[in-house]
Amino acid sequence: MKNIAKSNIQQPVTHHWHPMAEPKLAEQSSPLVFERAEGVYIYDTEGKRYLDSQGGLWCVNVGHGRKEVKEAINAQLDRLPYYTTFGDTSNLPVMELAERLARMLAPEGMQRVFFSSGGSDANETALKLARQYWKLSGEAQRSKFISLKQGYHGVHFGGTSIGGQMYLRSMYEPVLPGCFQVDTPWLYRNPYSDDPGELGKICANLLEREIVHQGPHTVAAFIAEPVQGAGGVIVPPANYWPLVREICDKYGVLLIADEVVTGFGRSGSMFGCRGWGVKPDIICLAKGINSGYIPLGATVVNERVRQAWDADHPLAAILHGYTYSGHPVACAAANAALQIVEDEDLPANAARVGSYCLAKSEKEFADYEFVGDVRGKGLMMAIELVTDKISKEPFRPDDPFLELIQDLTRREGLLIRNLGSNLIISPPLVFTKENVDEMTGMIANAFNQAKSKFNKR
Ligand SMILES: Cc1ncc(COP(=O)(O)O)c(C=O)c1O
Repeated sequence: MKNIAKSNIQQPVTHHWHPMAEPKLAEQSSPLVFERAEGVYIYDTEGKRYLDSQGGLWCVNVGHGRKEVKEAINAQLDRLPYYTTFGDTSNLPVMELAERLARMLAPEGMQRVFFSSGGSDANETALKLARQYWKLSGEAQRSKFISLKQGYHGVHFGGTSIGGQMYLRSMYEPVLPGCFQVDTPWLYRNPYSDDPGELGKICANLLEREIVHQGPHTVAAFIAEPVQGAGGVIVPPANYWPLVREICDKYGVLLIADEVVTGFGRSGSMFGCRGWGVKPDIICLAKGINSGYIPLGATVVNERVRQAWDADHPLAAILHGYTYSGHPVACAAANAALQIVEDEDLPANAARVGSYCLAKSEKEFADYEFVGDVRGKGLMMAIELVTDKISKEPFRPDDPFLELIQDLTRREGLLIRNLGSNLIISPPLVFTKENVDEMTGMIANAFNQAKSKFNKR
C-alpha cells in the first residue's frame, strides 16, 4: 500500500516507521510535512495551505487551533500535568469528564465510564468488560464475539480479531479464537437486495442465524459501528440497528456500539446509535471526545452492565487499566472540546452541511466513469472509485490511478483520504457550505485532470 504522496520536504523517511504504510516504499519518497493548522486549514512547511477534509483522521471535530481547548490544556499543564487514576487516586478534569459523559449519554442510560488512550483501547476495554460481565453474571461460557465484515475496531489483538477487513489481519494471524463476522448491510455491494428495508432485515436475520449457530449461551456480544467508517462509510438501512437490538435482547447478547468515529456528532446526531434510535449496552468513544488534541479513549456502560459489578465475586476487580487512563490534560481538553460541540450544536451542523455535501457530490461526481458510488451520513462520506461502473470492480490498492488522484487533490490544496478504492471525506464538524463548495471544486478539478489518464490505463 503506497500512501505517502508528493512531498514538500526533500528528506526521506529514515528512522520513522509510518503507521499504515509500507516502510520500503516510504523510504523511497519523502513525507508531506505539516507545520501548523487553523480552523479547517492545515499548512505544510512551505506555507502551502490545504483544506483538511479528513479532519486529521476523522477526529478534529471542533477544528484546528481552538483557543478554548488550548487554554484548557495550558491551564491543566500548569496545575497537574499527570497523575495516575489507578486504584483510589483521581484528578478534577477526569471527574468532570465522567459526569459530563454520563449526562450526555443519559438518553442511552449510560452509567459508568472507563478511560483509556484511544479507540483501539476503548474497544479492547469493551471486549474485556463484556467477558468479565458474563463471568460476574454466572455465564462464564459466554465468551464469543460477533461483528461485521468490513468493520474496523482498531489494531489491538482484540480489535484485529473482530475486525472485518481481512487485509488488515493477514500479516498478524492467528487472531483470537471465538470471533465471527457476519455480512454488513451494504446497499452498494451485496448479493441480497437493492431495497434498503429488505436488506436490513436480511442482514439482521444473518446475525440471528449466527447467534443461534454458535449457541446463544456462548455469545458474549455483538459489536458494530453505527455507520462503518474505515470500511468505506457504509450506512446501514434505518431498520438494521433497531432489529439488531431486538435480536440481541432475544438472546441476551450484549450490544456494543463502536462510536469511535460516530461519537459526538459526526453522523449528524450526537451519537450514531441515537441516530438509529437504539440504546446499546456498551459504547466505545475516542477521536471526537477531545477533537484529537491529546490521545484519549473511553468505554461507557449502561445499568445492565454496571450492576454486575455489585456482585460479591472473586473476579469483580477491574484488573485492566492504562498508565494514561484519565490523563488530566487529555480530559481537560475533552471538557473544553465537548463544551464547544454542545454550545455550537455541531451535530446539527454536521447534519445540515453533510446533507448539502452529499447532494452536491452526488450531482457533480456520480457521472464520472470511475465513480461507482457516493454515500454518507452527516459529515462522513465516501466516493467509491471503480474501474468499471457496471461490474463495480474496485481499483487494486497499488493501481497508480489512486495515487494520481491523491497527487492531484493535494496539488489543488485538498487533503482527502485515499482508503483503498474510497475517497473518504470526514472534515471538522465546523465545516460550512462554503467549505463544501471549495472542496467539491477541488475534487472536480482533480477528477477532470485524471479523466484522460483513466482512459489510457
Ligand atoms: C470505528 C473505529 N474504532 C476504533 C478505531 C481505533 O482507534 P485508534 O486509532 O484511536 O486506536 C478507529 C480508528 O479509526 C475506528 O474508526
